[in-house]
Amino acid sequence: MNVLLIGSGGREHALAWALAASPLLSRLYCAPGNAGIAEVAECVPLKTDDHAAVIRFAREKAVDFVVVGPEAPLVAGLADDLGAAGIKVFGPSRAAAQLEGSKGFTKDLCAEFNIPTGAYRRFTDAASAKAYAASQSLPIVIKADGLAAGKGVTIAMTRAEADAAIDTCFAGAFGAAGHEVVVEEFLDGEEASFFALVDGKNALALATAQDHKRVGDGDTGPNTGGMGAYSPAPVMTPALVRRTMDEIILPTVRGMVARGTPFRGVLFAGLMLTADGPKLIEYNVRFGDPETQVLMMRLKSDLLAALLATADGVLDNFDLRWSDDVALTVVMASKGYPGEYTKGTEIRGLDAAAAVDGVQIFHAGTERRDGRIQATGGRVLNVTALGRTVSDAQARAYAAVDKIDWPGGFCRRDIGWRAIARERQEKAGG
Ligand code: AMP
Ligand code: GLY
Repeated sequence: MNVLLIGSGGREHALAWALAASPLLSRLYCAPGNAGIAEVAECVPLKTDDHAAVIRFAREKAVDFVVVGPEAPLVAGLADDLGAAGIKVFGPSRAAAQLEGSKGFTKDLCAEFNIPTGAYRRFTDAASAKAYAASQSLPIVIKADGLAAGKGVTIAMTRAEADAAIDTCFAGAFGAAGHEVVVEEFLDGEEASFFALVDGKNALALATAQDHKRVGDGDTGPNTGGMGAYSPAPVMTPALVRRTMDEIILPTVRGMVARGTPFRGVLFAGLMLTADGPKLIEYNVRFGDPETQVLMMRLKSDLLAALLATADGVLDNFDLRWSDDVALTVVMASKGYPGEYTKGTEIRGLDAAAAVDGVQIFHAGTERRDGRIQATGGRVLNVTALGRTVSDAQARAYAAVDKIDWPGGFCRRDIGWRAIARERQEKAGG
């Protein structure tokens, strides 16, 4: 079958790499793609916010299945429009994508269906938001309601910081996303990323993963989209996976059915593992980036068959096999990220790096110009490795990083540190 993948990041490169290995695949297109994706798919310069153009392309190329990577097209209703045109699609409807598109929507769903999450209130004016925040204990979390590319969240340590964050939202720093503000209880614990394929009624948990959100070593500095990840996440024991499915994912799936907007696609729960058990921080309606890069390295089953089963509503008869190895990815970013950075710096040494045993390099923001690879984004490369242990995978990933000649880039040097500390502890404990 012919497949069109929408997106241009490291997540999409990993998805394209896995889709390309499917025996079901004839041709793989990716819009718009990047220099790495071009090695496994035919990249097409489609404007993906032009839904009519996507539908025209799909008809012209006899595309049987469209896989949507990022959240923005889903929130904009691309899956609805493709569905209405009779084209099969992986990804939720606009209504179901509200799980990511509106934090208030998700918080209300949690309240209605008894899903554990931080206490919260929604506000449409600054004075009431500030008054409520002042009545709560510190730290307190202030969030723009809508999509703000990960920048709409402030963990305020003081009342002044909370007030400033509320003012920033209502002053329009996040555009329409900040017209409503959610003030939320601070949750204490370790974070984990939890993924489940959901076909409307049934949910199938994927392998566990954790990412590193902060830009600096030791998990310090500003939040980013993710500076690295690994799978499995040793903190996610089978008992915690069960609780997450029973207390968070399945009630959400049932709640969306009850509301008449069943969810189909991949549900990505950002979890806080608190002393009282897993609590939902937020939902995303797409695969994680860079978590997908490590999941795809460990997936032994056919990804395309799994995504089709999700779209077809037949996940109840489906299972996935995963490698017992550990996968770890190091994100290389343009210097300055997540702030201002220079575009167009040249990257060399990729072939030597990719030749390191167990290593795959996924491109997140690159372009090929006159035969040279240039960085075009903030997060640029995902240097990903499989190993028997987290330490092995980490050593391989950094051996590859060290072969990359890119003066314009940087990366964290400690990806996987929590998992490695757990590995050492287990060894020491026998
Ligand atoms: P979000 O965009 O909602 O995923 O938030 C970004 C990051 O902010 C999360 O990954 C957490 O690290 C942090 N965060 C968000 N909400 C909370 C909360 N209620 N308590 C503690 N940390 C939070
Ligand atoms: N790595 C977190 C995300 O994809 O949002």
